[in-house]
Amino acid sequence: MAEVVIVENEAAAGALVADTIVSLIRSKPDVVLGLATGSTPLASYRALARRIADDSIDVRGVRGFALDEYVGLPAGHPESYRAVITREVVEPLGLTPELVRVPNGDPATIEHAGADYEVALTAAGGVDLQILGIGRTGHIGFNEPGSSLASHTRVKTLTEATRADNARFFDSPDDVPMHCITQGIGTILRARHLVLLAFGEVKAHAVAAAVEGAVSANQPGSAIQLHPHTTVIVDEAAASQLEHLDYYRHAWANKPAWQGI
Ligand code: F6R
Repeated sequence: MAEVVIVENEAAAGALVADTIVSLIRSKPDVVLGLATGSTPLASYRALARRIADDSIDVRGVRGFALDEYVGLPAGHPESYRAVITREVVEPLGLTPELVRVPNGDPATIEHAGADYEVALTAAGGVDLQILGIGRTGHIGFNEPGSSLASHTRVKTLTEATRADNARFFDSPDDVPMHCITQGIGTILRARHLVLLAFGEVKAHAVAAAVEGAVSANQPGSAIQLHPHTTVIVDEAAASQLEHLDYYRHAWANKPAWQGI
């Protein structure tokens, strides 16, 4: 089962994620990070940027692969995930831009963009640590309910619920693209360590379904149960519908110090 860590707030989650990634970079300077966008990982990226600066960590060899991208936004659109990853990750962390990839959402090449991304992921040796958020619909990446648990990077249609949730980033809800290109669930499961973050009551149902519900394409987040090394980091509100909360707290309180997450 996934390890569930209940933290006080996003800053505490960020500190834990930053610690974990810093030790990974120290042991593997060309580590491959899987990068989520959206609001959830922002505190972690900020904490990591501070740690890298404070401890003068050399990140020139660190590689990254974003989870997903909108299809059809003009190049340079500030809400394209390429722009978000540049603004929130590459620049603040000081990563080498050429080593950080985002799926290509250009309609001109979209038919083979998924296959191209899979080739690049494989050539890089796969993702060492994948940061995940989870949508209200239960999606991870942009794998909406019904997505195959074995899926690879491909084009998907966003649900209206997800388009409405993401409208906050755009001038008008109609501007949210209808399509995206996303790593598949099978792609995500190939990463060596999954770290799923969720904060706030609005995520409580999706978190409970992912961690304790039946494994089903109907709840894409539940695919994390198929992975041998998953860490779920949540605040109290996002943890509030978990049945085995006491056990997760007990296991964390008694975790051997050498183990890490
Ligand atoms: C983003 C992604 C999505 C988000 C999810 C939650 O790259 O793949 O699965 O993690 O939509 O979004 P936020 O964090 O904005 O609540």
